[in-house]
Amino acid sequence: MRVLVSGGAGYIGSHTVLALIEAGHDVVVVDDFSNSKPTVVGRLETLSGTHIPVHSFDLRDHDKTEHLFAQGGIDAVIHFAGFKAVGESVAKPLDYYTNNLDATFSLVRAMRRHDVRNLVFSSSATVYGDHAPLPFREDYEPLSASNPYGWTKVMIEQVLSDVARADDLKVALLRYFNPVGAHPSGTIGEDPQGIPNNLLPFIAQVAVGRRPKLSVFGDDYPTEDGTAERDYIHVEDLAAGHVAALEALGRIEEPVRAFNLGGGRGTSVLEMVRAFERASGREIPYEIVGRRAGDLAATWADTTRAAEELGWRATRSIDDMCADAWRWQSQNPDGYPDA
Ligand code: NAD
Ligand code: WQD
Repeated sequence: MRVLVSGGAGYIGSHTVLALIEAGHDVVVVDDFSNSKPTVVGRLETLSGTHIPVHSFDLRDHDKTEHLFAQGGIDAVIHFAGFKAVGESVAKPLDYYTNNLDATFSLVRAMRRHDVRNLVFSSSATVYGDHAPLPFREDYEPLSASNPYGWTKVMIEQVLSDVARADDLKVALLRYFNPVGAHPSGTIGEDPQGIPNNLLPFIAQVAVGRRPKLSVFGDDYPTEDGTAERDYIHVEDLAAGHVAALEALGRIEEPVRAFNLGGGRGTSVLEMVRAFERASGREIPYEIVGRRAGDLAATWADTTRAAEELGWRATRSIDDMCADAWRWQSQNPDGYPDA
């Protein structure tokens, strides 16, 4: 298949571009580099040994999006493009609603006009809201969120469900749990701008000496060691999940189907700290501080549906995730170069 990857220069998109090429698909990327650097593209071309066509524009530009589809040849779309920082979405909700929703509208309109019927969308476990029982299952309702970023995912899931039914699209909604790690080469990985919001990039920057210590947000949760538990998934497993979903779309009977992509178990903050210490051989200084507003005690996925219907499951361990994240961080202490 020839697959348009929106946001293909970003963290998860870049790993998925490689997985698609390895599986024999052709890839076209669209990215406005609002949260990524063009230097990732050369690295992807080196790793894959192929030229990757990249279109640099904001998907909200309807004319450019239309023009790209008018060139023809696109069989499917994997839609990663969007803003993703939870805290920033609380401060700038309109930016998040506008970017994440308008980019999706523009893409789906062009898909309909040019008869492209297969779509894989980056959703998130955040759509399970605050009340879903563990483990999270895809049939849980009602979906909700605790911040504007999360609401954009709930809303886009609804929009895509309605459009899929009305216009005969096939849509896979992939609800990621906590993506971490990097390509085993150490040449592509997660490159947060500014202070990392997420746990693993923060730990990695402490290990490499960019930050003095980690703040652990709360040790009074009802978990084994008192720190919060999350379902971490290696970005390489996640990338493989996109290839599996894309290839399964034709077999899935429903117009729209949600799939959890997670490992199916919780790991605590302190377990992650210890694993990263093992991987890096460095001590990670930390202090316990108060809980972060909006955090849940524990989240993990029921992964049965993805196993049964996509033939996919996560295979990489927490130690693999930390080893690969450390290889990326230690080889690229300041992330991707500007040019
Ligand atoms: P990322 O920021 O690294 O990648 C997103 C890419 O989209 C960036 O390269 C950015 O430049 C591009 N982009 C943003 N808005 C655009 C627009 N209007 N037009 C064109 N390009 C645009 O993020 P990521 O971690 O790779 O996440 C990819 C997707 O997965 C996002 O939709 C995110 O919400 C979702 N997701 C991420 C996580 C996570 O923890 N990383 C978890 C669940 C879901
Ligand atoms: C993990 C654990 C923190 C940083 C977020 C989004 C979610 C999804 C994935 C996109 C929590 C603790 C963290 C730190 C800490 N993104 N922590 N010190 O919150 O599970 O999910 O990213 O869809 O929508 O909310 O991930 O990595 O931020 O936190 O103690 O400096 O680490 O409290 O328990 P989270 P995270």
